[in-house]
Amino acid sequence: MMKSKNIFFVLFLGISPLVWVSCGEKEKETKAVDGSITFKESRWYTQQQFELGKQVFTANCAQCHGGKGQGLVEDWKTPNPNGQFPAPPLNGTAHTWHHSTEVLMETINKGGIPLGGSMPAFKEVLSEEEKLAVIAFVQNLWDDEIYNKWLKINNSN
Ligand code: HEC
Repeated sequence: MMKSKNIFFVLFLGISPLVWVSCGEKEKETKAVDGSITFKESRWYTQQQFELGKQVFTANCAQCHGGKGQGLVEDWKTPNPNGQFPAPPLNGTAHTWHHSTEVLMETINKGGIPLGGSMPAFKEVLSEEEKLAVIAFVQNLWDDEIYNKWLKINNSN
């Protein structure tokens, strides 16, 4: 009696980390923009900009940066074998919030290819309105703490 219970316990302990890891990976792989991402009030952008930004992000950014801007690989700080880096998370867990709107705009316009990276340039692909909206959508992924830190270091906005 005791013996078989122990076996189940051992099996459970053995399997649970596997289940946990594979769920974690599923989360990372999600490229579809999550419908549950909602507009955060009291920021510089309007709900219309957020909605437009969501469409722009879905069509142009999510395939590399993930549907919630979470990134698609755990280890985005290690270069691929070709020396280029995976797309980083944009959701406030990486460096994105250190950048002013101007710098974010420049990244979107020029991409990373001129710097040896792989992000395509969107200068001719998106209108100015769409670029600003997608920045709003990205910032909407940040929690208030990160957003307020960003405001503090970019108080020209
Ligand atoms: C083909 C994949 C790809 C697409 C599509 C893409 N990116 Fe990127 N992005 C990257 C990679 C890779 C980097 C890292 C720099 C590099 O290698 O170019 C990056 C870097 C960035 C950065 C700088 C992040 C930081 O923390 O400094 C921002 C901001 C960004 N992307 C926003 C966007 C937005 C907004 C879109 C959609 C309009 C987009 N990206 C579309 C791959 C992509």
